Amino acid sequence: MSHLLEIKDLQVQYHTEDGTVYALNHVDLELDDGETLGLVGETGAGKTTLAKSIMRLIPNPPGKIEGGVIEFDGKNLLTASDSEIRAVRGNQISMIFQDPMSSLNPVMRVGDQIAEVIGVHEKCPKEEAKRKALEMLETVGIPAERASDFPHQFSGGMKQRVVIAIALACNPRVLIADEPTTALDVTIQAQVLEMMRRLRDKYHTATLLITHDLGVVAQMCEKVAIIYAGEVVEFGTVHDIYKRTLHPYTEGLLGAIPQVHLNVHRLSPIDGLMPDPTIQRTGCPFADRCKYAFERCGKEHPQFISVGDRHKVRCFKAEKEAEKGGMD
Ligand SMILES: Nc1ncnc2c1ncn2[C@@H]1O[C@H](COP(=O)(O)OP(=O)(O)OP(=O)(O)O)[C@@H](O)[C@H]1O
Ligand SMILES: [Mg+2]
Repeated sequence: MSHLLEIKDLQVQYHTEDGTVYALNHVDLELDDGETLGLVGETGAGKTTLAKSIMRLIPNPPGKIEGGVIEFDGKNLLTASDSEIRAVRGNQISMIFQDPMSSLNPVMRVGDQIAEVIGVHEKCPKEEAKRKALEMLETVGIPAERASDFPHQFSGGMKQRVVIAIALACNPRVLIADEPTTALDVTIQAQVLEMMRRLRDKYHTATLLITHDLGVVAQMCEKVAIIYAGEVVEFGTVHDIYKRTLHPYTEGLLGAIPQVHLNVHRLSPIDGLMPDPTIQRTGCPFADRCKYAFERCGKEHPQFISVGDRHKVRCFKAEKEAEKGGMD
């Protein structure tokens, strides 16, 4: 089956004065129509780099996509021309950035900002774009009469709603949301997430939801990808990841939280740190922190193998267990 968005063997590096940062190392990931995929990992794991790669927005220099394929609707975005990419970006794939304020124009009325996006993408007359912008504002829970306000007149949660309205205004097939609620306080976070869920059910937009927060994943996602030191180490349905956990790093993340399905929890770091991203490794990047590590883990790099239907893992321990027949 072909996927709406499929990333294969993606490698991204930042070439800085202090050396090369190996930000993404052979990442594989897939997103199907209408589904919500959570991308979870600690700070510096490569989540934003992955999101920006899909949008072809990696700053170059210092960043460079060194290899791999990002296929959207059967087309490789990495070899597409600039004009082809512009047609996809913001139109078929849109992104909510980690810092929402950076996506709003401080000197333009919010209604006009939404109308501008609608006007460009739907090529409709100004009046119609304005009318649709008001509808969109109401859809994200902001009264239409606030359309003539400027961003600074809005609270943080309302600004984020406006950003979401802009991202959804052209009815994209894929929405990438990079920590859309991290900057908000907990109550507002819950409201914005609830709204995103409602919008997803209404528009069936496939969503890549980036978060530190496994509580958010349990609430919002059907599938999960766990990213560690620039590698997707485990991928599967929420049920697989929580109930049939395979990767010791995932296990550590889940173990750090007493009851994942309740409320909102932050990831508590596992003992130790992620390895220096400027050093290229031969072994498994988690080996130093892994309580199950054996000799091979420090020497060889595990492949991303399938265990079960859509459950994948990059780990020699899991591989051994699968061979023994412990897994289906
Ligand atoms: N412009 C840049 N120049 C150099 N290194 C960068 C740049 N952007 C990111 N990196 C490095 O690439 C790696 C991945 O960073 P990225 O921002 O993708 O992580 P992240 O998972 O989004 O983290 P966070 O949770 O903090 O947002 C890190 O080691 C980071 O320092
Ligand atoms: Mg980030």
